[in-house]
Amino acid sequence: MLTRVAVLVSGGGTNLQAIIDAKRAGDLPNAELALVVADRHCAALDRCIEPHIRTVVCRSTELRDVLEQNSIDVVVLAGYLAIVPPDAVAAYAGRMINIHPSLLPDFGGQGMYGLHVHEAVLDAGVAVTGATVHLVTDETDAGPILRQHQVAVHAGDTPEILQRRVMEEAEWKILPEALAELTAIVAREKEE
Ligand code: GRF
Repeated sequence: MLTRVAVLVSGGGTNLQAIIDAKRAGDLPNAELALVVADRHCAALDRCIEPHIRTVVCRSTELRDVLEQNSIDVVVLAGYLAIVPPDAVAAYAGRMINIHPSLLPDFGGQGMYGLHVHEAVLDAGVAVTGATVHLVTDETDAGPILRQHQVAVHAGDTPEILQRRVMEEAEWKILPEALAELTAIVAREKEE
């Protein structure tokens, strides 16, 4: 039985696109992309038109109801900028993952999102950064780590250049991989 996946977005949706592409390539055999939820009208929603993925725009306070009404098994935060309420986190404990554009626990937590992360990495002068997929808990960016991938920082990098490299080399790779693994596990559980 397929695992019903919801992807939560707020922005450009390149990580959502990586998941759509992975599904198309046959790399997510246990996953059905059942729903995309946004907290605002954003470009990510346009990516759902052609693959005919159902979309909902709602407040984060409505998340749990929306996810349960759509019989969602697994939730992916892919650039979702709203805080997920504790009731939704609890309902999907162990089945909700987030992609973060640094090697957590470094450069995570409050205020560390989007370009802020890469600015902080450059300010710190580190030579290596990367991305992390982790399970979502009530504490921001602090849940158990499922996958990490390193990316080199180059001399002369701007936050924008570094952001792009981290996406291309790490995020778009490890997010579909982690999702493939989790949906396989949940699919087996559903069959039991
Ligand atoms: C990514 O860098 C992701 O790691 C972070 O927000 C950004 C979202 O980009 N959480 P996109 O909307 O997937 O293009």
